[in-house]
Amino acid sequence: MHQITVFIIGLFLVLSSCSQPQERVRTSFNEGWLFCKGETGEEYLSDFDDNSWRQLNVPHDWAIEGPFDKEHDTRTGGLPVYGTAWYRKHFFVDNEQTGNCVTVEFDGVMNNAEVYLNGQRVGQRPFGYMGFEVDLTSHIQFGEENVLAVRVNPEELSARWYPGAGIYRNVWLEYKHPVHIKHWGTFVTTKHVQANTGVINVETTIINPQLSEGDFALESFIIDTLGNKVAYTKSEINFSDSKEAVVNQELTVKNPQLWDLDNPYLYRVESKLKKDNSYIDEYHTTFGIRTIQYSKDKGFLLNGNQVRFNGVCLHHDLGPLGTAVNYRATERQLEIMKEIGVNAIRTSHNPPSPEQLELCDKMGILVQVEAFDEWELPKVENGYNKYWDEWHETDLRDMIKRDRNHPSVVMWSIGNEIKEQRKKYGGEFAQKLVDICHDEDSTRPVTVGLSQYPQCVKNGLADAVDLVGLNYKPTQYNNALKYNPEFIVYGSETSSVVSSRGVYHLPVKNYEKHESLQVSSYDIISPPWAYPPDFETYAQETMPHSLGEFVWTGFDYLGEPTPYNGKDNMTHGKWGGDWPSRSSYFGIVDLCGFPKDRYYYYQSIWTDEPMVHILPHWNWAGSEGKNIPVYCYTNCDEAELFLNGRSLGKKVMGVDKTTIPADFLWWKKPEVTWDSPYRLNWNVNYEPGELKVLAYKDGKTIAQKTIVTASKPHKIKLLADRKTINADGSDLSFITVKIEDKDGNFCPLADNLVNFDIVGPASIVAVGNGDATSTESFQANYRKAFNGLCMLIIKSKPGEVGEVTITATSEKLKSAQVSVAIK
Ligand code: GAL
Repeated sequence: MHQITVFIIGLFLVLSSCSQPQERVRTSFNEGWLFCKGETGEEYLSDFDDNSWRQLNVPHDWAIEGPFDKEHDTRTGGLPVYGTAWYRKHFFVDNEQTGNCVTVEFDGVMNNAEVYLNGQRVGQRPFGYMGFEVDLTSHIQFGEENVLAVRVNPEELSARWYPGAGIYRNVWLEYKHPVHIKHWGTFVTTKHVQANTGVINVETTIINPQLSEGDFALESFIIDTLGNKVAYTKSEINFSDSKEAVVNQELTVKNPQLWDLDNPYLYRVESKLKKDNSYIDEYHTTFGIRTIQYSKDKGFLLNGNQVRFNGVCLHHDLGPLGTAVNYRATERQLEIMKEIGVNAIRTSHNPPSPEQLELCDKMGILVQVEAFDEWELPKVENGYNKYWDEWHETDLRDMIKRDRNHPSVVMWSIGNEIKEQRKKYGGEFAQKLVDICHDEDSTRPVTVGLSQYPQCVKNGLADAVDLVGLNYKPTQYNNALKYNPEFIVYGSETSSVVSSRGVYHLPVKNYEKHESLQVSSYDIISPPWAYPPDFETYAQETMPHSLGEFVWTGFDYLGEPTPYNGKDNMTHGKWGGDWPSRSSYFGIVDLCGFPKDRYYYYQSIWTDEPMVHILPHWNWAGSEGKNIPVYCYTNCDEAELFLNGRSLGKKVMGVDKTTIPADFLWWKKPEVTWDSPYRLNWNVNYEPGELKVLAYKDGKTIAQKTIVTASKPHKIKLLADRKTINADGSDLSFITVKIEDKDGNFCPLADNLVNFDIVGPASIVAVGNGDATSTESFQANYRKAFNGLCMLIIKSKPGEVGEVTITATSEKLKSAQVSVAIK
């Protein structure tokens, strides 16, 4: 599950420094933690009485447990993301490990982590998004029980979105020979691919802290997916009285399979360390053979072919599951994004989980890994700027070392809308960070997301980076080139349309704050700095060499509930006026991953498989005879709308592009709604019944969709995304709960309360419905439907197999059952 997997080599050596077997063992350290909120000050001591503490496994996010409260900052989701808490873990280290190096690796702790072993402080990391390794060796008691204690202390007002709280990513324990391959100590790059040959450079750092003597050698093997060894080399290692040695090796792979979007082929390097002809360490690095190039004339080239970024920005939370990392939930997020044609993500605005990158490697998704949302100047009272001076270089270097072997990663971002972009010294400041990135990795370009245009160009910041990311400036790409014709530009953040799934307010307006605290889903409402997707689509179409765009955002996320962020009622730096609005409306899909209408907009722009979609729903009792605008998204040439069998006319896509103002700037945004070349619309006098759209290409019907006026809610339908899951204690099944009428038509307004009963070896891990204003707990066995849908997420239990039966009941509705096999 980890990018770098390390295997037991099963070789037992008798070394002069130690009489025990030497082997690298890497195991999950997630199970069996004790947790307590608050502190007395003595929790770090090994004999502290933690008997009454709560037992849990990490990854754990205490804040998602709630409760929602408007006293918490709504900007961070109205959830308790701050406070002090302790995690403790008792563990035994076998005497056999004496002489070995013992480390613990945290993939991320949110935040201000301090780590103690047996009462001694052994490590710390303020930044919650960066993983870190702590060397426990000098305080470990071999053959005895040890106590690891972690103090976590996130502050209030420390984020612009929901950060989560706690040991929210995976933890690993490692035993290794004192002479070993360094943590994140390999760097595998494709030097070139020519004439069916891939030349691979492997740089390996080996550490020898005790200056141990002997004949050391490094063997590197390249292994293909079938397990075949396709390249091998061996080098002597010369420590030259130093504690560290760097070995550079070149390996050649004949007829390599290139890592590409539709064939994300992965190889691995097996690095084997030898001392006096015996193996003492083994370290695995997954990588891909691929070339990347960027140019102002051709854009981004992957293996020589131009690829436009059809990208989305993603925050790190997993909706109702909070921020606790889960492999399957991360995979599902990416699967949903791929359905709409997404080929790239920007890990806004921080280093991602290792699992997300592992999945992007496997699924063929390009990644911009972003480091910071803040540099030295603050955006929030207790943000990262407090740690900037001491930590930024370490965090940035570590991020690159950790992530540089992923073929999916194609650029580094040093920041998002950092305040320094307005400062005279912004360019100079950025240059230092760019230099750090280039120093760690000369194979990938460095970018930044800029919003203060043209200040960021005038102060040299845009010149300092390799790729100029502009946030929300679709008409400025060409103007930016006038400052510097060498710029390579793209939309690092685009659109920011807000909408609530299944909500439609009439008449259609460009901007409104509605008393329901929902946002109408005609896909044209955006906050003042943003704009409907059509504007960026047009900009990209007319900028053939732009690298593409990253839409804000793929998924709804917790916190930042613009436009109901209550900024107008800010007190003591806290947002909180429009309670209970507590999560974002920006997503192309809602917090549960249910498609909003924009899902189909982007599908129509980014995919070729014939599709057509119409909106709104067709349940407008009381509006008979009144005008309901119907919008249509399709990737076909034309579409025809039918109401109860009568044609309401055929319309052709992409006709009038002058409707997109060429000089569009956010402060000149159209006051009225406009006709877009990327969507069709009809004004329909409402009558209940069947609304149907046929989409044509070359005159032939190749896609269609029908929506029907539903009668009253009658029954529940359950749809499990996977009906078989693994009994590994972390696999999930996402069960969609649909409310239907007696004829099986979807009820688009249903808000019935649904109760869940589960029998078998799984548990309910979360519920949700995508309603950004719901303060019902995510951890319950019931949920109200929101516009006809809600969701239940179940999790397997470690080692427990069998059949799980889920029953959903609701007053006045026919209940439903679904089974999931746990294997
Ligand atoms: C951008 C910012 C994002 C998010 C977005 C909302 O300016 O970079 O983090 O706040 O606005 O539109």
